[in-house]
Amino acid sequence: MNVNLIDLPKILDPRGNLSFIEEENHIPFKIERAYWIYDVPGGEFRGSHAFKVAQEFIVAMSGSFDVVLHDGTEEKKYSLNRSYYGLYIPKHTWRRLENFSTNSLALILSSTNYNEDDYIRDFDQFLLISK
Ligand code: TYD
Repeated sequence: MNVNLIDLPKILDPRGNLSFIEEENHIPFKIERAYWIYDVPGGEFRGSHAFKVAQEFIVAMSGSFDVVLHDGTEEKKYSLNRSYYGLYIPKHTWRRLENFSTNSLALILSSTNYNEDDYIRDFDQFLLISK
């Protein structure tokens, strides 16, 4: 699976730590959009779909959640729970966010603007395309 957990720079400081992300440096794409998911009720999940073109990078800015990925062949689960690393998700990857902790905040950086036509929302169709 061509997916990467990416460690971000971490500037430790007694006044509070600092991390950052630079496009095409720490992540392999230009950032067209940032969005975030928050106030997720217990037991809910988000984002059960894939993208035809968009690449994404997901960071748990606060709290924790799991990202379940499927590349058409295998499924893998990643737990995100720190703001100094994130998960790079290439296009054509089925992804689902689940198991959100209370007050968790998921930041998602995307290589494209929002475009409903880029979504693959049917898993069987995804499996056909990912072959
Ligand atoms: P969607 O990506 O389907 O959410 P999920 O995380 O559950 O997969 O987006 C939900 C709604 O929000 C959808 O109607 C489109 C809208 N939306 C935007 O308008 N802009 C965005 O950048 C995103 C991510 C969603």
